[in-house]
Amino acid sequence: MPQSSPSRTVTLTDDTTGESWKLERRSGTMGPDVIDVRPLPRLSGLLTFDPGFISTGSCESKITFVDGDQGILLHRGYPIDDLAENSTFLEVAYLLLMGDLPNAEQSTAWTHNITYNTLVHEQLIKFYSGFRRDAHPMAVMCGVVGALSAFYHDSINMQDPAQRAKACYRLIAKMPTLAAMAHKYAHGQPFMYPLNSLNYAANFLQMLFAVPAEPYEVNPILARAMDKILILHADHEQNASTSTVRLASSSGANPFACIAAGIASLGGPAHGGANEAVLKMLTALEVPANIPEAIRRAKDPNDPFRLMGFGHRVYKNYDPRARIMRRICHEVLGTLNLANDPLLQVAVELEQIALSDPYFIEKKLYPNVDFYTGLTLRAMGIPPSMFTVLFAVARTAGWVAHWQEQSSESKPKIGRPRQLYTGPTARSFVPMAQRG
Ligand code: ACO
Repeated sequence: MPQSSPSRTVTLTDDTTGESWKLERRSGTMGPDVIDVRPLPRLSGLLTFDPGFISTGSCESKITFVDGDQGILLHRGYPIDDLAENSTFLEVAYLLLMGDLPNAEQSTAWTHNITYNTLVHEQLIKFYSGFRRDAHPMAVMCGVVGALSAFYHDSINMQDPAQRAKACYRLIAKMPTLAAMAHKYAHGQPFMYPLNSLNYAANFLQMLFAVPAEPYEVNPILARAMDKILILHADHEQNASTSTVRLASSSGANPFACIAAGIASLGGPAHGGANEAVLKMLTALEVPANIPEAIRRAKDPNDPFRLMGFGHRVYKNYDPRARIMRRICHEVLGTLNLANDPLLQVAVELEQIALSDPYFIEKKLYPNVDFYTGLTLRAMGIPPSMFTVLFAVARTAGWVAHWQEQSSESKPKIGRPRQLYTGPTARSFVPMAQRG
């Protein structure tokens, strides 16, 4: 695989003084070239300014590639459609982490490692009772995942590759257990232990929905749908939560603390919370007759209302995950005899109307992955407060892959952004008696 290599230079000139500085232009294997500005402060005394990282590549990565204009998403080179169709979540997690799909032997060992790490320390279970029952499950997840570092002391040394590997499969293995426990705790139901006879997604459903009082049979169609939903959410390059994990880990923080930081970031409404918002919007619309008014409001520049599940910072084309999610939604609702769900009718008509509206066409606003996710999860019996938790379970695969990539760098650098300071200049301390 070609490595990014310095090949060309770009000259930056100060138009006032005429001073100029040569900077390297570097190419990756795909995607836009970057200007390597690292020598700039040394050469010129200048910093670059880019709040929100709109035009900044924060790291070099070999994991995931997104082309927002073409609507392409590749994990280690494999298109998301291919993976969703032919792979499993555990296989995709291995791919993200190790760089290649596992062969049969590797797959068996990997699956064994995950399966035999799904239990959590019994003492950790006591943490849950410290939370209020009405706590948001993302708040609970942030706490219990952060607490893992207090339990698994043999996997917190990020300098040791063996400990790093252990931390990665522990996190992937334990996330569904912890997530299902958060769900059960909120509902006052007993926790369900993992079952090693079930695959990853089926076990997750079992821990979410089974009760000890009676046998629970996992619907294989729903288990496969859950597995695909996990695949679709597994990674998305340097988004806010992944960048948070990387920044946290750059200081040498332990892996569990880094993933807890990722969960905190994902919980924000601008990141992981949109699937819940889509469901609220569809519920409020109630019937297709209300769609034209919603479209009118979404187009009104003076109205803050937006079509939730439409638009994306990177995708200016159909989000490839949204297309797959729409298929999964129809499959799940069909399986559960909910094909006539009025909210599905609203969603389908809303999508059609928006996609043929000049406003949405011109602004390149297409459905994103969240548009059909909420409807699907709701049909599966998952409450809206758990939607983002489910996203966190899936995204743990990406987070640990990025954490591992960064922790394995030969010359690690702590993440330390600079700033454009606009506060007061130096001034003398004013004693209280002299303050106005
Ligand atoms: N409905 C109506 N108009 C919209 C929408 C929308 N959903 N999204 C963007 N626009 C308009 C904006 O008003 C803006 O119009 P203008 O050019 O007249 O100012 C233009 O399209 C560009 O939108 P921006 O907000 O500048 O684009 P940005 O990249 O900053 O925002 C975002 C992307 C936040 C996703 C936005 O499209 C949005 O709010 N969508 C709805 C929420 C949503 O579905 N979020 C989930 C994203 S996917 C994910 O996180 C997994």
